[in-house]
Amino acid sequence: MKTIVLGIETSCDETAICIIEAGEHGVINSGNEVKEPFNNGPEIKVLGNALQSQIEIHAKHGGVFPALAKREHSKNITPLFIEALKKSGLYQEKKSTLGDEEKTKILVSLKMEHEMAADVIQLLETIEKPNIDVIAVTQGPGLEPALWVGINFAKTLGTVWNIKVVPTNHMEGHIVSVLVDSEKEKNVTFPALALLISGGHTELVLIKSWHEYSVIGRTRDDAVGEAFDKVARILGLEYPGGPKISALAKKSRERVKNENIVLPRPMLNTKDYDFSFSGLKTAVLYLVKKMGELSETDKEDIAREFEDSATEVLVKKTRQAMIDHNVRTIIIGGGVIANENIRGAFQKMTSMDFIDVNLFIPQIEHSTDNAIMIAVAGYMRFVSKVDSLEVDFKASGNLSL
Ligand code: KG4
Ligand code: ZN
Repeated sequence: MKTIVLGIETSCDETAICIIEAGEHGVINSGNEVKEPFNNGPEIKVLGNALQSQIEIHAKHGGVFPALAKREHSKNITPLFIEALKKSGLYQEKKSTLGDEEKTKILVSLKMEHEMAADVIQLLETIEKPNIDVIAVTQGPGLEPALWVGINFAKTLGTVWNIKVVPTNHMEGHIVSVLVDSEKEKNVTFPALALLISGGHTELVLIKSWHEYSVIGRTRDDAVGEAFDKVARILGLEYPGGPKISALAKKSRERVKNENIVLPRPMLNTKDYDFSFSGLKTAVLYLVKKMGELSETDKEDIAREFEDSATEVLVKKTRQAMIDHNVRTIIIGGGVIANENIRGAFQKMTSMDFIDVNLFIPQIEHSTDNAIMIAVAGYMRFVSKVDSLEVDFKASGNLSL
């Protein structure tokens, strides 16, 4: 049986809408019994994907502003939904108009979202109910005003069209983003370990089976992506800094290493799986102050040493957790794994020291925030029925796994 899933993601600075067709991959429910876990992940076919990044708007402010993010999500969400429907072949114009009762229902459902009410009413007056079986929406973690836009949009569609809405954890989305790449045999054997590295998170998550997570390590201060962004700002580069630091570091690697530029490796030798990146950023700040005016080459060398430090700490802590927990699969998710140096270091480490362990890294476009991963995570919750699938859920900025 195939299920059509609408995924909605508005937790930060990307408005993303996606429609997927998911299948069971030899698995799942007969009656209430879960026969087999989703070891290999569901079969996934992306029907229509639409994404609008707010990066340029936030770049001027050096970071993401919640009120601005909310405004942009409200403005973009309906057009993106239409785009995803059209790409999926599910867009069909409507013949009849909405009754007063339905309009009132919509207005009540959107009482927190005045900005988008007119768009949504117009949408629902223009199109027929599409063939969507379930709606997955990010509940958290993220910026609450931004999360609410997606949640209220999802709930409104759910109410008017009578479709179930599944609250979805953004971090679980990053974990299952590795299942989207359909060319590869997705042999996820457990226990698995996920390293989640993004602008808001740096976590090591032990996975006993799908939906059974325990966070065994985390950052004590800044997330690694945040450190990339802050170091970029120190070097005079725009938000988001990750890709820019990475490009500078790459240039430096074409030359002999500048041994005068040395940064610490915070918490490298502690006996836990925790991280700390705030001190590393401060070390960059002091170094830059000491060096005075920076040449382009200096900036490249600093970026390289910073990236080396972050990479070394991430790899060492993950490696230790893999050994201690006899891990069979390693998954790396989140925007920072778009970084070539970090990707390469994990590929090298696994191929040399863990030949029996499967390493899964999402394609670059699936590593940063997107709605496909939300649709997949929501679908897996929906079919496994691990939660009683709350209807009246709220945005949860600090939602944990
Ligand atoms: O997962 P994501 O798209 O959003 C959050 O949930 O935070 O991650 C965004 C983070 C930003 O901090 C950005 O600078 C970082 O991922 N990032 C990178 C690279 N591309 C994005 N960091 C290092 N190298 C990259 N190539
Ligand atoms: Zn994310």
